[in-house]
Amino acid sequence: MFSFRKFQILSCAALGQLTAVCILATALFLASSASAQPALGSPADLSTLTTGADIFQKACQACHGADGRGAPLSQTGFSIPLPDFTECSFASREATGDWVGIAHQGGPLRGFSEMMPAFGKALTKAQLTAAIEYIQKFCTDPAWPRGEFNLPRPLLTGKAFIEDEAIVTSSLTTPGNNVFSNKLIFEKRLGARSEFELLVPVGWEQNFTGDNWSGHIGDIGLELKHVLYDNVARGSILSISSELALPTGDAASGWGKDTVILEPGLLYAQLLPADAFLQTQFGFELPADLNKADREMVWRAAFGKSIQEPNWGRTWTPILEIVGGRELDNAGTTQWDVVPQMNISLSKRQHIQFNVGVRLPVTDAGPRSPELLFYFLWDWFDGSLRDGW
Ligand code: HEC
Repeated sequence: MFSFRKFQILSCAALGQLTAVCILATALFLASSASAQPALGSPADLSTLTTGADIFQKACQACHGADGRGAPLSQTGFSIPLPDFTECSFASREATGDWVGIAHQGGPLRGFSEMMPAFGKALTKAQLTAAIEYIQKFCTDPAWPRGEFNLPRPLLTGKAFIEDEAIVTSSLTTPGNNVFSNKLIFEKRLGARSEFELLVPVGWEQNFTGDNWSGHIGDIGLELKHVLYDNVARGSILSISSELALPTGDAASGWGKDTVILEPGLLYAQLLPADAFLQTQFGFELPADLNKADREMVWRAAFGKSIQEPNWGRTWTPILEIVGGRELDNAGTTQWDVVPQMNISLSKRQHIQFNVGVRLPVTDAGPRSPELLFYFLWDWFDGSLRDGW
């Protein structure tokens, strides 16, 4: 029995590219031989299944295990690690539609192993959705916000979702006064609902004569974020955040405020029909020393819509951001900017993303120039920089 199973998998693998039929035959063989399930005659039998439990049992369980933790090597005959669907910290992060895509197109869709077969020919999208919804119930702790809320990151508006990410976000001021400023952001998820963020501004500025550039470090920020409310049926998520900006930057050259600034805020996102979304942020900047910096109120909103290339391919997300701010002390004017931008998923896994846009001053445009903004984002929980292409 075992040797035949192994032979079948190896012979399938020898084809180089595993066909749906080949792998499905393997899966059905595993289902019928290695577990206590009744044998199935042909993949066509799958077409009559309707419940997630039945579909999982007949098409997925042989590899993923009845408990969703992954069947043992002795049963599957291959050593590729299987995901543990009971582990919420992993299983809650992916949106249902994305997992349906993997089950439909096979592991290589997101740069995973070919041992995860493509079921698109054997099962309908509705059946695969039922199977994925069944898989998602293996995580039984409702504290983990769903991956549906992991929306494309706008250039300026903060995300309500909590993540494990590294981002380099850059801005280039044009024209004339040449400043290239960057923020290196490291985000680490803390348990089900919280996140820690470290933000280090670094940049280069051209001197007046224009013949050399000098490097600078700005005010380093430490932030904590916590999800207060999330409801995927309503499509809403609300988080509270608090950032502490430390006076590490050189205030004389404009790269620091020379005082500690506390930045409390609220982040709210709403999922809209047809893969559209609204992400909003509202907060304050409260300096410890009011002689060094002004108290400010800031608000940001990003409206976008994700468009996926056919068959769960690359995602393009045009976003329009509107950002505003107002000084609270000196009866300062209110400033508004708009930031049209495009977010693109670069890797197949979609864990490496690029966003580019322009920040256009709407009010008070005289002294402020348009800025070119862009970032590279790496969701490091989903794989290394080389994985998933
Ligand atoms: C022949 C064995 C096999 C069968 C049958 C199988 N899977 Fe998988 N599946 C795998 C392997 C192996 C992986 C891990 C791939 C990797 O990490 O490179 C995987 C990964 C996955 C993932 C991706 C998890 C992640 O890391 O994001 C999903 C979702 C999934 N399987 C769903 C299903 C569903 C639904 C079915 C049934 C309709 C199914 N699988 C049937 C072997 C299988």
